[in-house]
Amino acid sequence: MTDPVRSVVRRFPGVPTLEGAGVRLRRSFSNAEVPLFDPFLLLDRFGSTNPADYLAGFPWHPHRGIETVTYVLGGRVAHGDTLGNEGVIGPGDVQWMNSGSGIIHQEMPQRTEGAMSGFQLWVNLPAAEKMSVPAYRGLTAGEIPEVRTDTGDLVKVVAGSFGGVEGPVQGIPVDPTYLDVTVPAGGSFSWPTHPGHTVFAHAIDGGGRFDGHDGAPVASGETVLFGSGDAVRATAGDAGLRFLLVSGRPLHEPVAWYGPIVMNTRDQLRDAVRELEHGDFIKHRRPIVEE
Ligand code: FE2
Repeated sequence: MTDPVRSVVRRFPGVPTLEGAGVRLRRSFSNAEVPLFDPFLLLDRFGSTNPADYLAGFPWHPHRGIETVTYVLGGRVAHGDTLGNEGVIGPGDVQWMNSGSGIIHQEMPQRTEGAMSGFQLWVNLPAAEKMSVPAYRGLTAGEIPEVRTDTGDLVKVVAGSFGGVEGPVQGIPVDPTYLDVTVPAGGSFSWPTHPGHTVFAHAIDGGGRFDGHDGAPVASGETVLFGSGDAVRATAGDAGLRFLLVSGRPLHEPVAWYGPIVMNTRDQLRDAVRELEHGDFIKHRRPIVEE
């Protein structure tokens, strides 16, 4: 019989990391943690009030074999890609991008008053989908439904569903749930998890604890990985607790990882690098309409 409440099995404080052209961020987990978070590959949290920490941004770079999910909490990020998408995403907006067989894009934080902050999560694609047609979903804050529970929690549903409310991101191969949960001071939260799914949480603000674990409090900036069980339960401390709660179906497939490209074999990585050098990495662009 499994414990009905999932316990925290590992805790990740986040490691200061320089990424892109010189963006200071905190990396919660990455290739050193494979396959612990399967099907998730990486979680970065960026957050700074100093433009020098983020203005260098992430200039044009490729991706293949993964989905990248950008969630902006504060500030604005300008983006463009080889599918022809371009624009600026702001607070509460989500960009869910399936690189499939290949996309080249840029993500450039803009100078802002106050804090530039947000997350990027990498979601793995199953072997059969790694060379699929790339796709881009841009979601504004207003398109992300909010659920108020009867215990006063506020849950923004980006992907999957919560309390019978479906998020706008559906049809992703690993069946992800992506929630932004705010529990008021002293309040509690409960969510029945999908059997067999990998589940983790990242504390955005405040503090509290996840029931079923060692009893140590969870603090802002910390990521916790849950073990098996039927539910996640959280209790907020005096300052309340806001956290990302993410789950997905593990793939149990080999991972071959080279920078922004994540495939199943080293041969596939070599192919990708050769194609980048030869200029035939991109298989699908927005159709060019000739006059
Ligand atoms: Fe990227």
